[in-house]
Amino acid sequence: MLDVSGLSVRYDSVIAALEGIDFEVGEGRIVALLGPNGAGKSTLLKAIAGMLPFEQGEIASGKAVFDGVLLNGKHPAAITRSGIALVQDGRQCFRNLSVGENLKAASFRHSKGAEDRLQLVLTYFPILEEFYARPAGVLSGGQLQMLVIGMALMIQPRLLMLDEPSLGLSPVMVQSVFEIVERLHQDLGMTVVVAEQTVPRLMEIADDVYVLSRGHSVLHAPPDEIDEDRLQSLYLS
Ligand SMILES: Nc1ncnc2c1ncn2[C@@H]1O[C@H](COP(=O)(O)OP(=O)(O)O)[C@@H](O)[C@H]1O
Ligand SMILES: [Mg+2]
Repeated sequence: MLDVSGLSVRYDSVIAALEGIDFEVGEGRIVALLGPNGAGKSTLLKAIAGMLPFEQGEIASGKAVFDGVLLNGKHPAAITRSGIALVQDGRQCFRNLSVGENLKAASFRHSKGAEDRLQLVLTYFPILEEFYARPAGVLSGGQLQMLVIGMALMIQPRLLMLDEPSLGLSPVMVQSVFEIVERLHQDLGMTVVVAEQTVPRLMEIADDVYVLSRGHSVLHAPPDEIDEDRLQSLYLS
């Protein structure tokens, strides 16, 4: 479904953030993208979603292809329309708008079928129904994470990419977030990429794991070949 090959990314024309990355995501899979802080996980996701130009970043070489269509140079809105949603880190939403308004705002360019998708999102996230009329600013970190995932679902993506969804969440919340990811995958057949530093729960649901370190791809393996010790030594190498 997604085929990234030989991808190198630079910021400000000089800072090499990724070097020759190969990254493949098969339809219906859950792929974990692991690496320590600064490894290049967010850069890879932004390159796929067309967000690099907003940060003076550029694809220096290589390509990203989705369903046979080249993504390089495409506008983020066009990439979104082709079926890719990126939930960036930082849980960005309008904190002074209500939960419901945030969900509706997320689908303003995709108004067809928006009411049905809203109902679907509220089924997956009962908490968003409960807080529907309240400002997003009152939500806890975990609830905000659910809101931003819900917002991404409002555009009915076929490929959902989550950047460090578990950052700063309690273990119980991390558990709930990954439970939802698993349900989206099982019920809707959604293809998912999750970037994390290290999360054992993600290893239980992932089909495939890529590890980045300092802008290079250092391992591509099934999750059962990866444990905490191996990750630590890769991160330190
Ligand atoms: N907007 C930016 N401008 C310049 N350098 C950046 C920018 N964003 C990220 N980088 C650099 O690119 C490298 C990879 O960062 P990032 O993709 O954020 O890693 P990760 O998400 O794995 O923590 C780091 O060295 C980081 O400092
Ligand atoms: Mg990051």
